[in-house]
Amino acid sequence: MLRQFSYDFRLLTADSYSHDLRLTTYDYKGGSAMTRSILIASGKGGVGKSTVASRLGRLLSEKGQKTLLVDCDAGLSSLDVMLGVAEDVAFNWYDAYLGRCEAAEAVVHTENGPDLLPAPSAVLPEQAPDAVKNAVDALADDYDVVIIDAPAGLSTGLDRAARAAKKAVVVATADEVSVKGAAALAKTVTEKGVEQCRLLINRYDVKAAKKGKLLTVDDIIDKTAVQLLGIVPEDPEITYSTVTGKRGDKNKSAKAFARIVERIDGNNVPLNLKLLK
Ligand SMILES: Nc1ncnc2c1ncn2[C@@H]1O[C@H](COP(=O)(O)OP(=O)(O)OP(=O)(O)O)[C@@H](O)[C@H]1O
Ligand SMILES: [Mg+2]
Repeated sequence: MLRQFSYDFRLLTADSYSHDLRLTTYDYKGGSAMTRSILIASGKGGVGKSTVASRLGRLLSEKGQKTLLVDCDAGLSSLDVMLGVAEDVAFNWYDAYLGRCEAAEAVVHTENGPDLLPAPSAVLPEQAPDAVKNAVDALADDYDVVIIDAPAGLSTGLDRAARAAKKAVVVATADEVSVKGAAALAKTVTEKGVEQCRLLINRYDVKAAKKGKLLTVDDIIDKTAVQLLGIVPEDPEITYSTVTGKRGDKNKSAKAFARIVERIDGNNVPLNLKLLK
C-alpha cells in the first residue's frame, strides 16, 4: 500500500520526479569516440535492445545527427534486417579487424537513416576483444553519435561492445529476472569502464504494474540502482513498424521514443506515466 502511495505521489509531481531522477542529459556531442558512443545492453535476452538501438538511431538521424549503429551480436545480427539493408551487407567489423577491408568499407548506408556497421554472420572463432573498438575509433570522426547494440548477457561479446563506449543504456522489462540481469549488467559494464549507465524500461504496462502483476517503476529503479532514461510501453505494433521502418507516429511506443531521444539530446523532458497508457 505504501509503495502504491509513493508511486501515485510521484505521478502527481512529475516535474520533481523527473528532476530528482535526472532524466538525463547525456550530452554526447563532441569529445572522443568513446564519449560519443552509447552502448545498448541487457542481462536477459529479448528485452528489446535492438529495437531500442534501431529506434534511437533513426530518430537521432532524423534530428540531423550523423549516426552510426554498430551491431555486436555476432551470429545473431538483427539491425541489418530492422534497417532493411540485410541484402547490402558485404563486410563487418571482424573483417576490418582481420584486415580484409577498411572499417569504412564495411559500413552500409541506409536511405535517410543511420549508417550501419554490421556484425559477422557467425560466432567468432576467437575473442578479438578490440575488434569493435578499433572499428569505432576508425569511424567515429565521421559521426556525431555511435549506438552500439550489444548481445545479451555478460559474455565476451558484451566485453567487446563495452570497450567502445563510455555511456550505456541498460534495457530491462518489468519482471524480476530481467531486472536482476539489468543490475548485474550495470555493475559489469561499470567495472569495464562505462562511466554513465541509464535505465530504459521497455514493454511497460502501467495497468499490470498497478495490479501488482509487474514490478513498478520505483521497484525497478531501486533494484537496479540505475538512473532512469525513459519508459517504453508494451506496443503490439512495434515489431511491424521496426522492421518496415514505418515510425508509426501514432503508436504508443513512438511517442515514448521521441521523448527519450530528447533526453539523450540533452533536453529535460519530464516523465509522465499517463502518456504510456
Ligand atoms: N515495447 C515493446 N512492445 C512490444 N514488443 C516489443 C517491444 N520492444 C521490443 N519488442 C519485441 O520484442 C522482441 C525482441 O526484441 P529485440 O530483438 O529488440 O530484443 P533484443 O534484446 O535485441 O534481443 P536479443 O537479446 O536476442 O538481442 C521483438 O519481437 C520486438 O519487436
Ligand atoms: Mg538484439
